[in-house]
Amino acid sequence: MPINLAVPKEHTPKERRIALVPDIAARLIKMGVTVSIEKGMGSNAFFADDTYKDTQIIESAVKLFRQADIILKVQAPTEAEIEQMKEGAIVIGFMSPHLYPERVKLLRDKKITSLAMELIPRISRAQSMDALSSQASIAGYKAALMGADLANVFFPMLTTAAGTIRPAKVLVIGAGVAGLQAIATARRLGAMVEAYDVRAATKEQIQSLGAKFVDIPVQAEGTGGYARELTDAEKQQQQAILAEHIAAANVVITTAAIPGRPSPKIITQAMVEKMKPGSVIVDIAAEGGGNCELTQAGKTINHQNITIHAPLNTPSQVPIHGSEMYAKNLFNLLQLMIKDSELVLDWQDEIIAGCTLTHAGEIKHAPTRTAIEGANK
Ligand code: NAI
Repeated sequence: MPINLAVPKEHTPKERRIALVPDIAARLIKMGVTVSIEKGMGSNAFFADDTYKDTQIIESAVKLFRQADIILKVQAPTEAEIEQMKEGAIVIGFMSPHLYPERVKLLRDKKITSLAMELIPRISRAQSMDALSSQASIAGYKAALMGADLANVFFPMLTTAAGTIRPAKVLVIGAGVAGLQAIATARRLGAMVEAYDVRAATKEQIQSLGAKFVDIPVQAEGTGGYARELTDAEKQQQQAILAEHIAAANVVITTAAIPGRPSPKIITQAMVEKMKPGSVIVDIAAEGGGNCELTQAGKTINHQNITIHAPLNTPSQVPIHGSEMYAKNLFNLLQLMIKDSELVLDWQDEIIAGCTLTHAGEIKHAPTRTAIEGANK
């Protein structure tokens, strides 16, 4: 029996990305997979049903789920969707287990194998499957555009008959995947860019993009290339130096995150109040609570003539390329699992083992298991 792969519509409000684009559907079909999509699945990202060749277009989501061996999603499946899946099915998407413990329990109890894209290990071999990176680069790009749009000044230097305009000063805090893309984009728009990160390795990356590294003698490399949380003394040291750079910037873009923890609060209310009127903070760490004390996730506020913009799910605002990149990440992961048209999960493979959230009635991801079932399980 060929493998049945199904892609339902996304139901999360404002989610415009999709998990399968026509090119990737064609490549799966070439591998011997039977592909079905729910009618209209691609429409939010501008991919019409008839662009999916040799694909079954199914009107009823119930039927789609009933026959599926593999289900591709962007956002975590809802409880109603999980209820419709058959036992032993595999579902792959951003599972957000910390937000949806009830869904994780249901996936466990229904004996669904769920693979979480955010748990793909950050190792070289998994780079082509790293959806956190592909989507973060979109968020960084868009953050710079939002900053340029909201700034009450030009980004580039302009020499005009009405005088010379100095370039805008942009400060990027957090130079991971999103931050580096924000730097590159702001530079392309002609701004003078400074950037800061607690990981020393970012200095060279920031400089190679033509930005200035803000040197603060606080280093906080964590494990796996990530940052660790700062101590109170380190935070104070960081804030004292950053405050001057924040006060001088027209636009501050914040992207700092620590895996599994709320975003660090780096910009205090007092620091905001020292900024020049008309300046802007774009806080794309809002999903984790934000890097600014005044951030209101999903909102744009004005505090004493400073705009604080805190968008949620920024990658969804670039749905065509966001979907293409995400679908490619999924395809690269699926290639590890589909051998000669057969579905084989190799538990010795650290990528498969690492991203498995639930399997055969168990929660496999230890931190989620502890959070849901307690420390003794
Ligand atoms: P992230 O989204 O977890 O965090 C964004 C940035 O915020 C990080 O660069 C972090 O160092 C910084 N940060 C945290 N606390 C901060 C603070 N208090 N002040 C200033 N900055 C702070 O990180 P992302 O972008 O997901 O990845 C970070 C790193 O992970 C990469 O630079 C790389 O080393 C590694 N990575 C490895 C990959 C692979 O090998 N497959 C793929 C992607 C990332």
